[in-house]
Amino acid sequence: MSSANPYQSLENGKPGRIGCRIHYFEELDSTQQTARALAAEGAAQGTVVIAERQTAGRGRLGRSWHSPAGVNLYATTILRPPIALAEVPRLSLMAGVAAAQALEREAPGLVTLKWPNDVWLKGRKCGGIIAEALTNSGQELDCVLLGIGLNLNLDEGDIPPELRDKATSLRIAVGRPCDRIAIANSLFTLLDYRYMEIVTRGFAVVRPQWERFSALTGKRVTVVDGARRETGVVRGIDAEGALLLDVGNVVRRILAGDVSLEGAYD
Ligand code: BTN
Repeated sequence: MSSANPYQSLENGKPGRIGCRIHYFEELDSTQQTARALAAEGAAQGTVVIAERQTAGRGRLGRSWHSPAGVNLYATTILRPPIALAEVPRLSLMAGVAAAQALEREAPGLVTLKWPNDVWLKGRKCGGIIAEALTNSGQELDCVLLGIGLNLNLDEGDIPPELRDKATSLRIAVGRPCDRIAIANSLFTLLDYRYMEIVTRGFAVVRPQWERFSALTGKRVTVVDGARRETGVVRGIDAEGALLLDVGNVVRRILAGDVSLEGAYD
């Protein structure tokens, strides 16, 4: 159901820029799904879909994303980037930097990023990013649905029991409620800036920003990708966004996988 849009004042009307249109719904199955339909109808780059609540919020690797009403931000932005399909994962790293910078204004020194797409506050997950690529009939990139979920005013008691030792929210981390519209405003402004940067100058300019927030650099982790499992010390990310894992005799480039950090929650 679509209703009065509390994010209306963030709509900037600038063609191709993030936030040019903002569609708001009280409830959706997933903002990814609605953005997909809008993209198929030709929605412009920068169109954003926000839901107050999702009944089937999607995470990475087929997981679900807990999406209760009235407390968080669930947004998908339609992008039409002039990049190759293989470069799409860099967009979720770029979005991680934008999300981290938006949260850092509210929680200085508490925000980190866990490769590839988790936003952490005090070592627990408070946000996630998913970048879904849609291709044309020639298997070339047509558009990207960049989904961002941020736990903002979620209370400890609203976290499902199985996630309680892993998840957090901005409110839990700083001990006071936040203004969701103001944070969305920072997020979309930073996302627009970082997106223009990556498209015009390449991912290498975003890399040092990402490294500044890295929760993993210098830490011992295990990476699982299907049947493959590797343990080593993270040396950072490279100019293409791959995780650099020092396994002793060699530094491997990891392109995908689930990372667990020793002594922390994943
Ligand atoms: C992850 O960490 O696994 C990624 C989570 C992405 C969640 C967001 S919420 C807005 C958008 N709509 C969805 O269904 N998923 C993304």
